Amino acid sequence: MFMNFRRISKCQCMQLLTTGLLLSVVMICWKDLDHHVVSHMRSYTYRYLVNSYNFLNSSYALTSIHHNKKDEVSDVDAGFVNYPYLINQPGKCGGGGGDRKSQDVLLLLFVKSSPENFERRQAIRDTWGNESFIWTELGARVRMVFALGVHPDVRRRSRVQSELMQEDRAHGDLIQQNFLDTFHNLTSKLLLQFHWGHKYCRQARFLMSADDDIFVHLPNLVKYLRQLLSTESGVKDLWVGHVHRGAPPVRRKDSKYHVPHDLYPWPSYPDYTSGSGYVVSGDVAAKIYHATLLLNSSMYIDDVFMGICATAVGVYPQEHVYFSGEGKTPYHPCIYNHMITSHGHATDVRTLWQAATDPTVSGNSRGFVSHLYCTAVRVALLCLPYYQNTYSCMAAFT
Ligand SMILES: *[C@@H]1O[C@H](CO)[C@@H](O)[C@H](O)[C@H]1NC(C)=O
Ligand SMILES: *[C@@H]1O[C@H](CO)[C@@H](O)[C@H](O)[C@H]1NC(C)=O
Ligand SMILES: *[C@@H]1O[C@H](CO)[C@@H](O)[C@H](O)[C@H]1NC(C)=O
Ligand SMILES: *[C@@H]1O[C@H](CO)[C@@H](O)[C@H](O)[C@H]1NC(C)=O
Repeated sequence: MFMNFRRISKCQCMQLLTTGLLLSVVMICWKDLDHHVVSHMRSYTYRYLVNSYNFLNSSYALTSIHHNKKDEVSDVDAGFVNYPYLINQPGKCGGGGGDRKSQDVLLLLFVKSSPENFERRQAIRDTWGNESFIWTELGARVRMVFALGVHPDVRRRSRVQSELMQEDRAHGDLIQQNFLDTFHNLTSKLLLQFHWGHKYCRQARFLMSADDDIFVHLPNLVKYLRQLLSTESGVKDLWVGHVHRGAPPVRRKDSKYHVPHDLYPWPSYPDYTSGSGYVVSGDVAAKIYHATLLLNSSMYIDDVFMGICATAVGVYPQEHVYFSGEGKTPYHPCIYNHMITSHGHATDVRTLWQAATDPTVSGNSRGFVSHLYCTAVRVALLCLPYYQNTYSCMAAFT
């Protein structure tokens, strides 16, 4: 009896101890747990219960809007500032929007760059952003421009600015507005892209927005866009990329992505694609442009603001497994055949371009055996846990 009692109390003692230990661990880590687990659970629940974010429409609507005749909002009433252009390319798409002279542009490609990133821009021009390569090899008209603000450091600004002017004289592909090129002004850069596209390149079938440290496999992208165009119904309501669903706003003050309650009080953002690289069809570009005229653009995370605009006009993003979001591609010919974007290529754009567009890559992948081989390779590269942060496992089977 006595022994038994002692054993029980020993067990209970251990239980009590472990429970206490667990509780204290939970309490110590509560902050992290709250940020990482609870906020995600809350946001997913919210996302799948609410499932429509129509309230965003009225919450972000501007109260007093006076359109003038040309369908442009006067600066005073708009929820954004119409910054003047410092460098512009009005003739990039053959002049004007939608008139006879304008060229048939398949893709208008904006690369979000910063004034000091001279080398990244040159690497892009020499590789995937080479318009004449796409034209001679694929017969597709792509127009690429870099979207910029002004250098935030006032002491370096005038020197960087004169270098930009020189760069633009050499290449004619910079578009710059007079706002500080900072993280918290990215939404201004988003507005630049959709407003410029609406004004100077309305006829483009597709519009893409991309970071200057990503790699875009333009031959694959052109092939994909042409496939979309060749379907009977044509392309409408397309917004494609790496989709974030039910992402919670970051409430930690020390985070770059911190968003206060005043700015966004709900536990979950509407669905949006990663800003690193996404594509919209021409009709969606027009709808987003109009949404930016009606909505308050104080949300400074540009891809979230894009989600808010899209929700207001009833457009929802589609996932494409070969848009990487934040992930970096594994290097392999079996991937090069399918990849569209890959993130984190500030320095290796040239080598990847060489490898990914080598003519032997597509030549090697025909036939049943090589198809099987490539599927096996992709499973090894994408589905095993040691390759984190790249395309999803599903991409192995396409
Ligand atoms: C936009 O929203 C912000 C924050 O909610 C607010 O301070 C600002 O006055 C609004 N701007 C307009 C033009 O409604
Ligand atoms: C762009 O491509 C064209 C056609 O393939 C080529 O002649 C030209 O050298 C390339 N330009 C750059 C800057 O690499
Ligand atoms: C955005 O740019 C404007 C215009 O240059 C500037 O006044 C503002 O401070 C910038 N905002 C941020 C957060 O950098
Ligand atoms: C959002 O507001 C606009 C303009 O008031 C309206 O045309 C549109 O239908 C609204 N969208 C939704 C999803 O309620």
